[in-house]
Amino acid sequence: PRKIIIDTDPGQDDAVAILLALASPEDIEVAAITAVAGNVPLELTVRNARIVCELAGRTDVPVHAGCDRPLERAPVTAEHVHGKTGLDGPDLPDPTMPIAEGHGVDAIIDIVRREPAGTVTLCPLGPLTNVARALEKAPDIAGRLQEIVLMGGAYFEVGNITPTAEFNIYADPHAAARVFACGAKITVMPLDVTHKALVTKTRNDAFRALGTPVGVAVAEMTDFFERFDKEKYGSLGAPLHDPCVTAYLIDPEIFSGRFVNVEIETVSELCMGMTVADWWGVSGRAPNATFMGDLDADRFFALLTERLARL
Ligand code: BDR
Ligand code: CA
Repeated sequence: PRKIIIDTDPGQDDAVAILLALASPEDIEVAAITAVAGNVPLELTVRNARIVCELAGRTDVPVHAGCDRPLERAPVTAEHVHGKTGLDGPDLPDPTMPIAEGHGVDAIIDIVRREPAGTVTLCPLGPLTNVARALEKAPDIAGRLQEIVLMGGAYFEVGNITPTAEFNIYADPHAAARVFACGAKITVMPLDVTHKALVTKTRNDAFRALGTPVGVAVAEMTDFFERFDKEKYGSLGAPLHDPCVTAYLIDPEIFSGRFVNVEIETVSELCMGMTVADWWGVSGRAPNATFMGDLDADRFFALLTERLARL
């Protein structure tokens, strides 16, 4: 299995991404979860990450608290999407497992240095603050990573928090700029992909029909999350953004994309956090990331439902 660190701001879709990883021990070994401020403030994302581990019966996974604010800009949250707790929908008990000792940034550095070079994959599902801080404090880790597989950005789909920016990148554009420039192998799941991973009624019924606490909780999470996209955009269902990252680790053939140059706008207020992806190779700038553009949604949901059934 691939050894991964999940850096996250749960978030219902983060929760499903974590559950998919924990349900797939033959493909994925979760070394740690590091929480970051994003969808909701840090205190809540640390809480939600532990709720999800307990739901999966995996209190052995260390959950560390990371950065509570972006590198330079004021915090931006997304309660309008995820609710006040960040995990609105199911009625899950408060976590009892402890928060792991040590700052999330140090946990990332320690794990990447401790494990053999080229064997740790970093999976950011929220703003990139923890990752950027880790790279700043320990630049050597960039060359030791197997890969960074992250959810963030957009190309044709442009933006969801501003007209030109996706939430994770917008929430800490300076961190994102550093990550995209770090030299590690980077694979990106932008809105172009995640807006095709829609939980339709049939797909949500399949989660509920699992009849397990995990299946029912996931159905209730996506029910809540769905309200936002359906009402506002007339979408078919909730886009499961973050699970695209963990699904990619299990079955990369679900996704297709291009190795392109991606730069992050950090100056213009109008386009702050825009992922400028050179899809047609017109800039002459060297490619630095594989930007996914499409997925096989039926194969994605079949995998997700089959794996969640195990928990
Ligand atoms: C991203 O923003 C968050 O609201 C989701 O959890 C996802 O990581 C989508 O733009
Ligand atoms: Ca997220």
